[in-house]
Amino acid sequence: MLKKFLMAGLVAGTTFAFAGQALAHGDVTPQAVDTSGLPKLGEEWEETNPFREDGKYKARAVEIGSSAYNQNCARCHGLQAISGGIAPDLRYLEADYEGDEWFIERVTNGAVRDGKVYMPKFVGTISQEGLWAIRTYIDEQPED
Ligand code: HEC
Repeated sequence: MLKKFLMAGLVAGTTFAFAGQALAHGDVTPQAVDTSGLPKLGEEWEETNPFREDGKYKARAVEIGSSAYNQNCARCHGLQAISGGIAPDLRYLEADYEGDEWFIERVTNGAVRDGKVYMPKFVGTISQEGLWAIRTYIDEQPED
């Protein structure tokens, strides 16, 4: 498992001209996320972000999502989701059902083409609660 993720990092590192620089900012291995304070969602995926609507969990979700994003996503997608060009700018992912569907697709499968791992998968390392927390944090970033 660990080796696979390290390999993924190496492959991504040689694939993107700037990735070497970006990877220096963080560890390549997906990091588990402490989601205490959020309700347990179970194995089955929610169809849409359960923390997006203002409610008693939103603030905690943004807080968890902020640190989890910085640890796991920022090295490719940029700080505060502002892309430096290595990977898509996640600020433009619509904060709606379709955006959520695409988000789930990517974090479940990563992005692999011709055997090259452009993005590792995160499901299995980060819980559903942790991934929706990241999604909530991304939703909160202004588009400009
Ligand atoms: C090793 C670099 C890397 C890391 C780390 C990474 N991504 Fe990605 N991500 C990419 C690349 C490259 C793409 C574009 C893939 C493609 O279209 O083929 C992408 C695409 C996406 C997309 C689809 C965006 C779109 O507009 O199509 C989402 C959503 C996404 N990533 C979320 C995340 C989240 C959330 C994390 C952290 C948990 C993360 N990524 C970590 C490289 C990365």
